[in-house]
Amino acid sequence: MTGAPGLKGIVLAGGSGTRLYPMTLAASKQLLPVYDKPMIYYPISTLMMAGIRDIMIIATPQDMPQFQRLLGDGSLLGVSFTYRIQPAPEGIAQAFRIAGDWLAGAPCALILGDNLLFADHVPAMLRVAARRAHGATIFAYQVRDPERYGVVTFDADGKALDILEKPEHAPSNWAVTGLYFYDGRVGELAAGLHPSPRGELEITDLNRIYLEEGSLSVERLGRGCAWLDAGLPDSLMLASSFVQTVQSRQGMLVGSPEEAAFRMGYIDVTQLRALARRMIKTELGRTLMAIAGRASAQAVK
Ligand code: TTP
Repeated sequence: MTGAPGLKGIVLAGGSGTRLYPMTLAASKQLLPVYDKPMIYYPISTLMMAGIRDIMIIATPQDMPQFQRLLGDGSLLGVSFTYRIQPAPEGIAQAFRIAGDWLAGAPCALILGDNLLFADHVPAMLRVAARRAHGATIFAYQVRDPERYGVVTFDADGKALDILEKPEHAPSNWAVTGLYFYDGRVGELAAGLHPSPRGELEITDLNRIYLEEGSLSVERLGRGCAWLDAGLPDSLMLASSFVQTVQSRQGMLVGSPEEAAFRMGYIDVTQLRALARRMIKTELGRTLMAIAGRASAQAVK
């Protein structure tokens, strides 16, 4: 399978996680478990399935060492991890300022470290977004509490008309998810943003620039797709239950960077076995070993 040449990825894994206190008083939200894996595994897997191999992890100064210990340089997964600090949570769009020199004009996908996106068709959909050379692509999902998010309104033909950040009265229930694809101008456009009244560099302001020039694609995610942000005790539990249900019922993995690396051809079957062996006391390790076993059996057929 081919990657997305030139496209870089950022996982924004800073923030304060105040809505998960006391769980996040001494630990990063994105390192908390979502069933059997650290939360950050899920967004990393999403980027990898989009064909991205060059990934920057942005985290707080205090949490950075744990992320580095968990993920290393990425070579075991056939990818490259670069680390940068966000000193204070001053907005999602700040990621592009922090990463500006590293991006060096490359197109980029950004995913929030607490966002989990699942569906069979998601990898294919992401690869389409990753191949788009001009403009930006974001994803909208219907939720019961749109006021917590950026909210998109559409015209009768399904074309995006407007995006509002955390409106008091949401004009639709289409929330903007925490996964965004931008063309090579993103670093430059983010550099020109100004902090909003709440003092943040808003991703919605960046998206509105693309919307206003007519180059923003808003893909609507339907009912066959699950999007969860694990920022509240209930959504964290829901995410864990979801992963447990799919994995135990179907015997398929959700959010495994090891499996993503293998499926995308970033590592071979021997490397997958080595990763599985480290975790062989777990169901996750045994499932990875079984995937390697099936692949080897197919290869000799
Ligand atoms: P939020 O859930 O909006 O913020 P938070 O994680 O600090 O949590 P809380 O509201 O409970 O205090 O952030 C969404 C994601 O984006 C989360 O993964 C953290 C990340 N983020 C940053 O890393 N830096 C930032 O400046 C912002 C605004 C968010």
